[in-house]
Amino acid sequence: MSTDHRVLLLGGTGRTGSRVLTQLLDRGVPVRAIVRSAQRLPATAAGHPLLEVVEADLLTMPTAALVAHLDGCDTVISCLGHTISARGLFGAPHLLVERSIRRVHEAIEVRPPAAPVRLILMSSVSVHLPDRADTRRGRGERAYLGALRAVLPPARDNQRAADLLAREVGTADPHLQWVAVRPDTLVEGDVSAYDVHETLVASIFRPDHTRMANVAHLMGELATDDATWQRWRGRMPVVVDTEAPLPAPSP
Ligand SMILES: NC(=O)c1ccc[n+]([C@@H]2O[C@H](COP(=O)([O-])OP(=O)(O)OC[C@H]3O[C@@H](n4cnc5c(N)ncnc54)[C@H](OP(=O)(O)O)[C@@H]3O)[C@@H](O)[C@H]2O)c1
Repeated sequence: MSTDHRVLLLGGTGRTGSRVLTQLLDRGVPVRAIVRSAQRLPATAAGHPLLEVVEADLLTMPTAALVAHLDGCDTVISCLGHTISARGLFGAPHLLVERSIRRVHEAIEVRPPAAPVRLILMSSVSVHLPDRADTRRGRGERAYLGALRAVLPPARDNQRAADLLAREVGTADPHLQWVAVRPDTLVEGDVSAYDVHETLVASIFRPDHTRMANVAHLMGELATDDATWQRWRGRMPVVVDTEAPLPAPSP
């Protein structure tokens, strides 16, 4: 597999993924985006010379096709998520994120890269670190989240995707390195001041907030700045705004 500085983006039509896409293009980073429909890409990105669009179903495309799409990409960013609708939340595929990450991992193993591919996963503060390493998450929160994961497939999916990276890929894989970025409640707004923490800083019952633009900014830093990558690789940083959220628009 040949590698270059190019990002393979999954979920680039979503609320956060579209911000990741535009910010990467603004930084001059070439992007290959696998999307279900190119029509849902942000208008500012359409026809951009640094953007290559692949219209395909990530979960059903042949492995050989995914291997080919990974060619030349040193970084993969996933902003996949279940659409907020009854079908998106409760319909198939229940394990969209976990299955997608597993497919990427398997495709990388088919044609191992010269240097490890860097995977940046959009995760959530609802996800906790393995082995109770998030000391702030007490028994009550764990019980609540356990019940939530039992009834809400996306909550289960996010934890399973993170567990796949932490427990199966680990930190010594010769072909895949990863960072799982954990934002709190997603809000609108331009890039602003934000903090990145090793572990949870707020309770799930008293949530913090994170601008989607700030998630995209951190992902852009991880994709382009080696020191930032080395600081967080194999970890699940929590990203939260340091400014109050914008007031909701009046009706
Ligand atoms: N809501 C929050 O406050 C919050 C907080 C922290 C973390 N998160 C997590 O952050 C992630 C991204 O959230 P978001 O709100 O930015 O996502 P979003 O706007 O719902 O976008 C989801 C993306 O996933 C794609 N997708 C959905 N189902 C798919 C499928 N079956 N096959 C292929 N692609 C599919 C969508 O593509 P289409 O355009 O084709 O539908 C879209 O690009 C989610 O995992 C979410 O759980 C959310």
